[in-house]
Amino acid sequence: MVAAAPALICASAELENGGDARRFEIERADGRRQAAFVVRYQGRIHGYLNRCCHIPVELDLQDGKLFDLTGHYLICSMHGARYRPDTGYCTWGPCRGQSLTALDVGEKDDKVWLNVMPDEFC
Ligand code: FES
Repeated sequence: MVAAAPALICASAELENGGDARRFEIERADGRRQAAFVVRYQGRIHGYLNRCCHIPVELDLQDGKLFDLTGHYLICSMHGARYRPDTGYCTWGPCRGQSLTALDVGEKDDKVWLNVMPDEFC
């Protein structure tokens, strides 16, 4: 669980291109927790709150398997919304045109970091 940033999420080697997401939780000042994840896509790390834009449920039913079979979209397991891994933009599904809440994440010293806590968790 992450309560302040910068915070270590995982080792860089844990994230393969188009592979399983690394899930983690962010803790708000009021103690509420929000699921989040990081993935690697085309060599770069991307992080988002783990909350679909259609209904606020976790995209992956807690197994970290977010990429579709093409390896180019993150897919919501509930109703199939597809999001671009690099922007979080929903290209298909009931929430098309909306975007996942992006997190400021990055790599340094072979580790993946949450650089800044998000301002809000809506
Ligand atoms: S809850 Fe994600 S597409 Fe409906």
